[in-house]
Amino acid sequence: MVFKHRKDLLGLAELNRAEIESIINTAVPMKDILTRDIKKVPALRGKVVCTVFYENSTRTRTSFELAGKYLSADTVNLAVSTSSVQKGESLKDTIKTIEVMGTDVMVMRHSMSGAPHYVARNTKMRVINAGDGFHAHPTQGLLDMYSIREKKGTLDGLKVVILGDIQHSRVARSNIAGLSKFGCEVRVVGPSTLMPADIENMGAKRFYNIEEALDGADVINVLRLQLERQKKGLFPSVPEYAENFGLNRKRLSLAKKDVLVLHPGPMNRGVEVASDVADSAFSVINEQVTNGVAIRMALLYLMIGGASE
Ligand code: CP
Repeated sequence: MVFKHRKDLLGLAELNRAEIESIINTAVPMKDILTRDIKKVPALRGKVVCTVFYENSTRTRTSFELAGKYLSADTVNLAVSTSSVQKGESLKDTIKTIEVMGTDVMVMRHSMSGAPHYVARNTKMRVINAGDGFHAHPTQGLLDMYSIREKKGTLDGLKVVILGDIQHSRVARSNIAGLSKFGCEVRVVGPSTLMPADIENMGAKRFYNIEEALDGADVINVLRLQLERQKKGLFPSVPEYAENFGLNRKRLSLAKKDVLVLHPGPMNRGVEVASDVADSAFSVINEQVTNGVAIRMALLYLMIGGASE
């Protein structure tokens, strides 16, 4: 059982293949609960989940909150922008305060890489990393893997292209860490100024030409151009980025006929992905969001439900 010997979920690099499979397998019956008229089971009655997001979020925070509610946990959100963090309270003191109120699991997003690791070392609560800086977004990696396996029937040996702003992407790093354990050929392509120098050491295959990267792809995971994290001068202009690296119909036709298009959201339509591609039959972008709830239900259940005892 994955979380018998692990207190926290901080990244996918530290999980082995069997552990990832166990989480994804547990998410399958969780997704069934989402299709019911009454989306509620008592698995986590009496447990407390607290989401603490120092960075904005729509999908991740809401889906963790719903995942907890569907499993009957009490869920609470610390609204950082209106909290005592604004009066200068330290991260350590904030975390201790949440812990001593009886929280079982804390779901945390922070702009600093390593912040959830620091918190995990300083609390008895279980900690889930909901995204730390450029470093990791393990639950996004898991929901992407779930979405691919659901459609393709397997992850083994697939050609998965990660397209765009790799440098600033914790989603890319978590996908590379997870997919490479399943023998996937993970291809990365994007502007050289948005490509980490050590990307091949992480297990990805770097391409310099977008058409070559897309040739025969089973999956294309398009990344958001993270304009808020960019220093000026990393690419000439947004229209030129779209021209050179945007996923459009012409480029999509280079991939396999049954290619899947993923995007973690939020999308810059017309920049990294053309609207007609995002809304096409190849796109699983909305299903990724639903699968995100199932994956987060699975994680909460495995970490603080009966299965963890
Ligand atoms: N994919 C993702 O992390 O989205 P949010 O920033 O909306 O949570």
